[in-house]
Amino acid sequence: MGEGVQDITSKLNGQEYIRGRDGKVFVLREFELNDLNAVVMINRRVLPENYPEFFFVEHYRSFPKAFIVAELDGRVVGYMMNRVEFGWSYIWKGKPTRKGHVISIGVLPEARRLGVAYNMMIRGMRAMKHFYSAEEVYLEVRVSNTPAINLYKKLNYKIVNLLKGYYHDGEDAYIMARSLEDF
Ligand SMILES: CC(C)(COP(=O)(O)OP(=O)(O)OC[C@H]1O[C@@H](n2cnc3c(N)ncnc32)[C@H](O)[C@@H]1OP(=O)(O)O)[C@@H](O)C(=O)NCCC(=O)NCCS
Repeated sequence: MGEGVQDITSKLNGQEYIRGRDGKVFVLREFELNDLNAVVMINRRVLPENYPEFFFVEHYRSFPKAFIVAELDGRVVGYMMNRVEFGWSYIWKGKPTRKGHVISIGVLPEARRLGVAYNMMIRGMRAMKHFYSAEEVYLEVRVSNTPAINLYKKLNYKIVNLLKGYYHDGEDAYIMARSLEDF
């Protein structure tokens, strides 16, 4: 492991304190089982795709370093849950690769536009690369979800595919992806 990678992983192990756009400081850290209720509650409140508790627990058990929560004023206000898979690259056609997959990300309405999601994405992507050797990252997003699409574009994700009727209500999904080479 090179020096640079060690620097990053040691930074990624603890809590990170980040000043939000309103000047308040929020904390990024890894998910703990104590956070389960808060995360399930946020998921139900902000997304139509709701998962059973065991789904969150399984991701925590398999990829603990890449399951990130954000705390503001001592309360969990956001989460980002990820996994790493092996399959065909969306970036380098025909190359089998380790792909980070953003499974779910959500921020409570009262904590939005502060930079919480952006910073959880950065930490989650770094963790997928440095702890689980992901070379790229991808996700599905509703074609109507402009806030999320803008977030991913700001992070240099590109639309690489369209999944017709992907969601239970028939809405299409974009697959968006980016390389993790620069992380
Ligand atoms: C999408 C979501 C996670 C963004 O969370 P957030 O913490 O408010 O996002 P950030 O403050 O980090 O914003 C980062 C960038 O995202 C984009 N963005 C975020 N909210 C936006 C909005 N309402 N309209 C347009 N762009 C938006 C902007 O590019 C923003 O950068 P800027 O503030 O410099 O313009 C949040 O709105 C949410 O939880 N939505 C419901 C759940 C969801 O859709 N999850 C994604 C499923 S794929």
